[in-house]
Amino acid sequence: MKLEKYYENLEILHVNTQPYRSYYIPRNKNLDYRCKYLNSSDWYFQFYNSVYEVPENFTEEIIDNGDIINVPSCLNMFGYDKHLYANVKGPIPFIPPYVPDQNPTGAYVKTFEMSKDDKTFKNFLVFDGVDSAFFVWLNGEFVGYSQVAHATSEFDISSFTKIGLNILSVIVLKYSDGTFLEDQDKFRMFGIFRDVYIINRPKNFIRDFKVEYQVSDDFKSVDVHLDFMWLNKPEDVTIELLYKNKSIYKGQDADFKLGNAHLWNAEQPNLYTLNLITNTEIIQTEIGFKRVEIINSILYINGQKIKIKGTNRHDSNAYTGATISREQLMDDLRLMKENNINAIRTSHYPSSPWAYELYSRYGFYVMTEADLESHNTCEIYGGGHLYNSTETLVDDYTFGMLCHDPKFYEAMLDRIQASVIREKNSPCVFMYSLGNESGYGPNLEKCAKWIKEYDKTALIHYESSVYQKVGYNNNLSNIDVYSRMYISPDDVIDYCSNNTLHKPIILCEYSHAMGNSNGDLEKYYQTMLKYDNFIGGFIWEWNDHAIYMGKDINGKDKYYYGGDFNDFPNAGNFCLDGLLHPSRKPKTNLLEFKNVHRPIRAYLRDGKIYVSNQQNFLNILDSHVIIVTQYIDNEEVKAEKFDYLDVEPGGVQELEFTFTEHKSVDNYLIIEYFTKKASELLPKYYEAGFDQIMLNKVEVKVSKSLGGKKVTISETETKLKISNDTFTAVFDKLGCTLEKFVKENISYLEKPVDYNIFRAPTDNDRKVITQWKQAGYNRTQIKMLNTTCLEEKNRTVVEFDFYITAVFLQAIMKVKAIYTFTNKGDLTVTLHAAKDPVFPELPRFGVRFYLDKSFQNINYKAFGPYETYADKHHYCYYSEFEDMVKNMYEDYIVPQEHGSRYGARYLKMMNQEQRVEITAKDFSFNVSNYTQEQLFKTTHNFKLKEEDFVTVCIDYKNAGIGSSSCGQAKLNREYAIIENQIDFEFEVYFNTQE
Ligand code: GAL
Ligand code: MG
Repeated sequence: MKLEKYYENLEILHVNTQPYRSYYIPRNKNLDYRCKYLNSSDWYFQFYNSVYEVPENFTEEIIDNGDIINVPSCLNMFGYDKHLYANVKGPIPFIPPYVPDQNPTGAYVKTFEMSKDDKTFKNFLVFDGVDSAFFVWLNGEFVGYSQVAHATSEFDISSFTKIGLNILSVIVLKYSDGTFLEDQDKFRMFGIFRDVYIINRPKNFIRDFKVEYQVSDDFKSVDVHLDFMWLNKPEDVTIELLYKNKSIYKGQDADFKLGNAHLWNAEQPNLYTLNLITNTEIIQTEIGFKRVEIINSILYINGQKIKIKGTNRHDSNAYTGATISREQLMDDLRLMKENNINAIRTSHYPSSPWAYELYSRYGFYVMTEADLESHNTCEIYGGGHLYNSTETLVDDYTFGMLCHDPKFYEAMLDRIQASVIREKNSPCVFMYSLGNESGYGPNLEKCAKWIKEYDKTALIHYESSVYQKVGYNNNLSNIDVYSRMYISPDDVIDYCSNNTLHKPIILCEYSHAMGNSNGDLEKYYQTMLKYDNFIGGFIWEWNDHAIYMGKDINGKDKYYYGGDFNDFPNAGNFCLDGLLHPSRKPKTNLLEFKNVHRPIRAYLRDGKIYVSNQQNFLNILDSHVIIVTQYIDNEEVKAEKFDYLDVEPGGVQELEFTFTEHKSVDNYLIIEYFTKKASELLPKYYEAGFDQIMLNKVEVKVSKSLGGKKVTISETETKLKISNDTFTAVFDKLGCTLEKFVKENISYLEKPVDYNIFRAPTDNDRKVITQWKQAGYNRTQIKMLNTTCLEEKNRTVVEFDFYITAVFLQAIMKVKAIYTFTNKGDLTVTLHAAKDPVFPELPRFGVRFYLDKSFQNINYKAFGPYETYADKHHYCYYSEFEDMVKNMYEDYIVPQEHGSRYGARYLKMMNQEQRVEITAKDFSFNVSNYTQEQLFKTTHNFKLKEEDFVTVCIDYKNAGIGSSSCGQAKLNREYAIIENQIDFEFEVYFNTQE
C-alpha cells in the first residue's frame, strides 16, 4: 500500500492532530462521561512484514480474513513480530530519518456505532499511546497521522463520523523517524498499546486549562488563577472547588484565594476536586497545591527539606508487555507504598495519562520524563561518549549529535511539549525531565527554555547535560539539579562538599537492582541524611523486564530475556534489573530498600533508646504506633506499645522502655513501626519497618565431648586414616583435605571437603569476574607441600601445608590447614592463608562440605530469616532461625550467588536421625541443593537441577553484594575481602542429635 512517508520526515510529525492539552474526560451536567472506549477484544487485525505488503483495500480484506485482537495490547505478546530486547545499540540502521523497508506493520479495523445524539456533538478520537507511528482512516477517509509512542494523539473526527456503523482503520508501523528518539533500554514492543476512545464535545468548549497558583509564605493559603484555552468561542465558566466533597469556592472569577489550605505532599496527598462548568459540559479533575523550590541547593516542598526515596518505573510486564492496566498499576503503587518508596521517575517516557491521577491520589513525587532517548548515537561506527569534559577530548564524539542537529529540534520539542503540556496540572509532578541519555546541546537547551516560559514554577532535570561536545559550552541555566547515575556515595559526598554547580545533586538512577543486588543502600541513605544538598534518587529500577513463556515440563514458569529470541542486537539479561522479579514477587532487593527507608529509626545512646522521625510531614503521633519487644536468649520476655510519642518530622525523642541486662545470653530489642491508621494503600497496623538493638551477643560454645578411646593412625603415601570405635576419618593427603568421615556407622561426607575461593558470580560481579577468571579463582587446584599427623592427649592433629593455585598461574595463596579431632570425633578446623597480594580481592574464603541429601532441615543463628551479606542485611535481624535448605534458594532468573547468611555463630544441618553442627565466632554460610558451579553455568532458573547432595559453604567471609552491575562504582572497601592474611577457625560436631 502506498502511504505518505511522514514516518521518514522530521518536518511532519503529526497530521491533523489537535494541540496537546491536559488530560481529562469531559462529562455532561450529570457528571456522566461523554466517552466511548474502543478498548475491546474485537478489533480485526492483520500483521505484515512490511508496509508494502498491506493491500490497498486492507479494511475489507481483514474484516473478511483477518485475525481478531484485543486493543490495547502489544503485538509482540501475541507472536506477531518477534521480541527484541535492545539497550543502547538500536534495532535499525542509523540513517535518520530513514527506516528499513521491511518495517513490521499492523493493520487494525474496529467498527463502532454512533447514535443520533453522538452526532449532535463534535467527536474526537483519542489514542493514548501507539508505538511507533500510525495512520488513521474513518469510513474510508484519511483522518490523520501521528507518532511519539507515549504521547496522546487526538483527532477531530466530526466530519467523518456518521449515525450507525462506523469503520475505523489504523495502520501502525514499528519503525519511524521517531525510533531514533525512542532508543530506550527495553523490549521493543509495538502496536496500539494504550487506551483508545472517542469523546463528545459541544460546539464551544474549554480545550485546555492551566491551574496556576501561589502558596503563601506561611503555607496557609493559596492564590489560585485559572487560565482557559477555548475551542471556538469562550463562554461563561463556573468554577467550583471542593475539598472532601465540601464546596470551598464557587464562582466565575478565575482568580480566587483559598484560606486554610490543605497542601499536597506525598505523605498527605490532599486533593481538591475542580469542576469547570460551562453551559453544556463539565470538566472534573483533581488538583492539589504544593510549593516546590530550591533554595541554596536544597529541595523544599511546602517548606520541608525533602528526600526523594524513589524508583524508576517502566511500563513493563512479563505477561502484557508495555500495556498496563489500572489494576496492574495499582498493584505496583501499593507495593511501592508498602516498601517506603515515595517517588517515581517515569523512565523514560510519560506514563499513561490516567496514571498521574493515581500517583497524585496515593502520594508519590513524580519526575515525569519526556519520551526521548537517543543513546543509539554512541554506537555508530567511530562514535562514542565524551564524559563531562574532564576526560581526554576526542573528536569522534557522537553522543548528543542529534541535540546539535537543528533538523531534530522540532521533534525533540514536540516530545517535551507532549509531556509538559499534559502534566502541567498534575499535583504529583515535582520536576520535568527532558528525557534520558540523548547527550546535550542547543536543541535541548532551547526546550528547557521553552518549559520555563510555559510553566514559571517548573523545575527541570536532565542527566545527560553533564556531557559536553568539544568546543561547545553547555548552557545549564535552565537545568535545576545536578543529576548523575550510579556514582558511589563517596562521589556524591565529593560533590556535596564542594557544590561546584550550586545545584542540589539527585541520582536519577542508582543502586542498579540487577539480580542479587542493592547491597550498598544504607550508605546512600546515610549520605542523604548528612548532606542537605543530596536530595535523594531513584533506584534503577522497579521491575525485571522479561517475557513469560509458559511453564516447563516440571511446571516451573519460564521467563525469557534478551537473546532468548535470537534477537539482534540484544542486551542479554541487562533487563533483569528490578526490585521485583518478572513474576512481580519482590526480590530481597526491595525488602532491603524498605527497611533502609523506614519512616522511623531507633538507636541506643548511653543506655537510652531514642527514636527519630524520618518523615517530612507526619508527626509520629499521627502516623505510627511503636512496639518494643525485648528478647532474651531469643525468647520474647516483654513487649510494650508506644502510641503517644509526639515527634515532629525530623525530630528525635527518648523512648522510655526499661529493659534488663543479661551478659550470658543474647539479649536484644526489636522496635517495630506500625501504621496508626489505614491510608488509601496501607491497612492499619501495617509494619513499615523495624530496628534491632543488640544489647548483648554471646559466642556459641558447645562443650566438646572429652574422653573416647585412643585412635589408631594408618598412613600411606596418599591417605591418612584415624579411627577408633566411635569414628573413622580419612584424609586425602594430596588434596590436603578430609575425604571421609564415619561416626557410629553413619558416613557423613558425600565428597571430600574442598577449599573455596569462588562464588557463582552475581550480576554485580559481572565486571570483576574477568579478573577472577584471570586469577583462576574458578579453577583452582591444590598442591600439597607437607602433611603431619600428631597424636596428643585425647586428640589427633593433622596439618597440611599447601598452595591453592591454577594452571599456568603462580600460586594464589599458601595455606596451613589444621584438622583437630577429639577421640570422640569432634572436629576443629583452623585455616591460615596468605594470599599473594598481586591477586585480586577474593569473592569469598572458606570450605565446602557435601552432605547427604537427607540433611534438609536447618537451624542457625545469624542475620536472617532471608539472604544476608555484609552490606545487605538491614531488612533482617540477628537471631536463631529454623528453616529448610530449599527455602534458602532465591529464584533469580539468571542463577547466581544467593542465600548466604551473614554474621553467623552456628549452623545445624539435620535429617531424621543425625545432626551436623558448625560453630565459629563470626562466619557466613550458604546451604543449597545446587552447587555454585551449576549456578554459574546455568542461564535460566528453570533449567536448574537439584544435585543429589547438599552443599554447605562455611565462609570466613563472603564479599558484599554492592551494586556495580552498572556504572563505575566499585564494591565499598568495607565489604570487600581486601586482607591478604586470613585466619579462620570453626568447629564441627557430627551426630549431636539429642
Ligand atoms: C542507564 C539508562 C537506563 C538503563 C540503565 C541500565 O544508563 O538510563 O535506561 O539502561 O542504564 O540498566
Ligand atoms: Mg540508555
